[in-house]
Amino acid sequence: SAINPRWYPRYHLAARAGWMNDPNGLVWFDGWYHAFYQHHPYSPQWGPMHWGHARSKDLVHWEHLPVALAPEGPADKDGCFSGSAVVDGDTLALIYTGHKFHGSADTDDNLYQVQCLASSCDGIHFERHGMVIDTPPGLHHFRDPKVWREGEFWYMVVGSRVENTGQVRLYRSTDLREWHDKGIFAEADEGMGFMWECPDFFTLGDKRVLMFSPQGMAAEGYHHRNLFQSGYLLGEWQPGQPFTHNGEFIELDHGHDFYAPQSFLTPDNRRIVIGWLAMWESPMPEQQDGWAGMLSLPRELSLDDNHRVKMKPADEVTALRGSYYPAPVRDLNNQKVLVTANAEAVEVQLAWDLSASTAEQFGMALGDGLRIYVDNQAQRLVVERSYPKYSLEGTRSIPLPANSLLSLRIFIDRSSVEVFVNDGDACLSSRIYPQPDQRDISLFANHGIASLQDAGYWSLDK
Ligand code: FRU
Repeated sequence: SAINPRWYPRYHLAARAGWMNDPNGLVWFDGWYHAFYQHHPYSPQWGPMHWGHARSKDLVHWEHLPVALAPEGPADKDGCFSGSAVVDGDTLALIYTGHKFHGSADTDDNLYQVQCLASSCDGIHFERHGMVIDTPPGLHHFRDPKVWREGEFWYMVVGSRVENTGQVRLYRSTDLREWHDKGIFAEADEGMGFMWECPDFFTLGDKRVLMFSPQGMAAEGYHHRNLFQSGYLLGEWQPGQPFTHNGEFIELDHGHDFYAPQSFLTPDNRRIVIGWLAMWESPMPEQQDGWAGMLSLPRELSLDDNHRVKMKPADEVTALRGSYYPAPVRDLNNQKVLVTANAEAVEVQLAWDLSASTAEQFGMALGDGLRIYVDNQAQRLVVERSYPKYSLEGTRSIPLPANSLLSLRIFIDRSSVEVFVNDGDACLSSRIYPQPDQRDISLFANHGIASLQDAGYWSLDK
């Protein structure tokens, strides 16, 4: 049966049907990229979690595979929660959280989360080996193991909640089965959240990065505007020790919908991140169509000279480009110009000359539901969505870059938009829900002039 195509992505990974949340177990194994994901195959709502599975040769064309893990118990009877994958010799190992409730009441006190192992020789069929790490005494929230190899050991970071403090804990092993508790790896300072989900730890340039998704950070000005955040701490690490960092949590993506990102290394050593394009407790209109959630584009991380993490589309994404259509304008003077009537799957490229642009607001619109524009007075780049029918309204924004060029790569895929700013300096990702007659792209300038150095779009072909 065909899924309603109105919002279903053409070049992002989504479940064939049913619910999707976090990416899990991103890994290169035996000639394929594998992506697993939190999945409820039986309805478009969150439910007992399975691991959905797909593979790809190029990170943009995905082949669906059978469900890899199902909550069969005993340790994971109520869900196979998030986790990671490593290649151990000839086998692909999945390390994930077994989730269950004692008795019937699903309250925190009855919640029991442990770390489990499964393995596969062919990368498709998995054998479950059960629990490898029990819950530390007194903890209920203890989940989302990320495992990596360093020297002669396997290491694992796990997210947890200790009373009302988010924490990451460290473990070490030689065989992925017997794990030694190495204590607290990092923990929340005041205001940094009550639970740290989906930790990931890796080297980038000359730094170590702890990427994680804290719950319960309060919004402050333009920061932490979503229900939950995802971001990172930078620092140094000696294997087996706690992580040393300066405590500055930096958001990774500034849009409405980006959560629970995970990273992996390509065979040519690029650090790629993929996140979930959705937000807990946000309306998900595609549930009407029998599915929910998609994964972001693959994004390559690097460290800039100021020790900020940059995030730009992985090179593979350009392979999607079909024909290029230049926009019919250079300068806009208090006007709105149509670029294309039907943009379902496109990459728009815009380079604004900020020093020559006096308009109060200028940018791009998709129908009357999405605007990506410069607010000259506030000196901010704004992503504004307006889908009142689905209770999805509001803005996210970032400061304008210091130099006078604002260059944007904007990816639209039916119900998502990802805006990459100045070659990876910032990114804003949001879900959008245009009606079929609201897919026209136009450029606009209100009250003044806006100057383009470059403008056009590619159709992105499957
Ligand atoms: C993050 C998360 C994880 C958990 C999973 C459950 O979005 O809450 O902490 O393992 O989703 O589906």
